[in-house]
Amino acid sequence: MQVFHQIKSVREALQQAKNEGKKVGFVPTMGNLHNAHLALVKTAQNYADIVVCSIFVNRLQFGLNEDWDKYPRTLENDIQKLKSVGCHILFCPEEQEIYPNGMDAQTRVIVPSMADVLCGASRPGHFEGVTTVVSKLFHIVQPNIAVFGLKDFQQLAIIRRMTEDLCIPVEVIAGDIVREDDGLAMSSRNTFITAKERPKANQLHLSLKWVCEQINQGEKDFQLLENEAKAQISAAGFRPDYFNVCNSKTLAPAANDDKYITVLGAMYTQGARLIDNISLEL
Ligand code: PAF
Repeated sequence: MQVFHQIKSVREALQQAKNEGKKVGFVPTMGNLHNAHLALVKTAQNYADIVVCSIFVNRLQFGLNEDWDKYPRTLENDIQKLKSVGCHILFCPEEQEIYPNGMDAQTRVIVPSMADVLCGASRPGHFEGVTTVVSKLFHIVQPNIAVFGLKDFQQLAIIRRMTEDLCIPVEVIAGDIVREDDGLAMSSRNTFITAKERPKANQLHLSLKWVCEQINQGEKDFQLLENEAKAQISAAGFRPDYFNVCNSKTLAPAANDDKYITVLGAMYTQGARLIDNISLEL
């Protein structure tokens, strides 16, 4: 695997592959890689000849009181894991390389309405940071396809909208959620769950499944289901952030006749904020 820190050098390496007619797949990450990230690399391999992974802990998408400084940085381990699944190129730039004019002066990409709800309501500015860095990474790598995990459903939907609205010639592909045996969705932030909390940390997933079962059985009072799910999460000892039944494409509250519905939730443990979702076709 080739490792690049500079935009110029990764571009040169990729230009050569593109001249040879190779299709480029891209998996952007913030590192601290686990099996779910490696599954995204494997998905990209199904669509492309060359797979590029990026590792960049993007300060622009973290709020002032969030965990940018304690976000786990495990580059050496990450490199070994990427090599083990046959990733071809790793791009891991320094902050100065991505934001040479400073973050305050950085041109921003904003996807209105979808970015202010759900996770965006609890994390103001988060998705602006995501779409800004992803559009920069798309311009640097210029991949044919890019894979994003379905666990971050809102992120995926917003990136899809951004590529559509800005006519970016990248096909955005969804990578399945990878779960622990008890259903907890794999996430870099799971390392912050305490040993005491861990046995019940799958409650978010259990409540999502319960709500989906109720909808499949014909329940149409989504508000009632959302409130009940939040009560289940509180009863398990966690603080619910949001729990919403949404239209899968727009993320607006689901209407009774919507065909594609996604149920999304977020909850706080003592040390982590966990998110998860399940999509339904009615
Ligand atoms: O999902 C992530 O890890 C990040 O939000 C991403 C897409 C790499 C942008 O920094």
